[in-house]
Amino acid sequence: MNTQNLSDAGSYKFGRFEKNAEELERLKLQATIALKHEQKIWEQTGLKPGMNVLDLACGPGFTACELAKIVGDDGQVTGIDINEELIATAHQAKESEGVKNVSFTLGNLYELDLPENSFDFVYARFVFQHLEKPELALSNIRKILKPGGILCILDIDDNWTSFSPGSDAFIKFIRKAGAGQKQKGGNRLIGSQLYGLLNETSYQNISTQIHPITTEDLGIRYFLGVAVLFRVEMLNKVQKLLALPQLRTIKKAAEDPKAWGALGIFVTSGRK
Ligand SMILES: C[S@@+](CC[C@H](N)C(=O)[O-])C[C@H]1O[C@@H](n2cnc3c(N)ncnc32)[C@H](O)[C@@H]1O
Repeated sequence: MNTQNLSDAGSYKFGRFEKNAEELERLKLQATIALKHEQKIWEQTGLKPGMNVLDLACGPGFTACELAKIVGDDGQVTGIDINEELIATAHQAKESEGVKNVSFTLGNLYELDLPENSFDFVYARFVFQHLEKPELALSNIRKILKPGGILCILDIDDNWTSFSPGSDAFIKFIRKAGAGQKQKGGNRLIGSQLYGLLNETSYQNISTQIHPITTEDLGIRYFLGVAVLFRVEMLNKVQKLLALPQLRTIKKAAEDPKAWGALGIFVTSGRK
């Protein structure tokens, strides 16, 4: 398996952030802040005790540990990720959570080294927005799903985000950040495209739902982190400079006690 080809990591390369420790904290918070909401999504999508689950592009493993608690002793969760540092963090998460039925492996979703027809449920959380070849990823996932097995993708779409006051600056920033991510192989409009992509790759019973999350759920600070500041790290030096005026306006607007924002979280599922 070739995990050295970093271009396969698309627009997300942990280790290349200016502030990796902060990015790790963001991933941790992202895995826990809306956990109750996410657990309901898993239930509605068909996750059940006893299932064999793959957490594809599991990052630091926090979500895989939560999935393992749900599938219980009769189930098993495997987390794979292309990044060695994140897999090492995932091993630590397993220890500190005291979860036995989860394992983590270094792996590339474009070259899955996993048995065909073996998983009941594959979860892919916030990775498709970073992929240059989503169709290849979907075909690979379909191979390793059991017949009737479920794929559940959680991701984002920039057409479903808003913030006020300062909404003009916010929209300009979102567009610039989206263009920057696209240059790196990502796609911030993936959410609404997943329904079509699953159709094209022969999935059945496809559904896309949008789950709104607002600053009332997340708090302004976290919203700003996930919707704006994390995205600055994805821009090159020139792009960062060009985005500075909007960033100043957004940060100032976020200090307004009347500030409010929302993100649409896209959940797309389908069966093999
Ligand atoms: C934004 S992070 C999301 C991590 C985790 N799913 C979560 O929600 O916290 C994207 C993850 O995708 C991983 N990734 C990117 N390309 C990959 C590939 N080709 N194969 C496996 N993992 C990949 C990155 O290393 C990173 O951990």
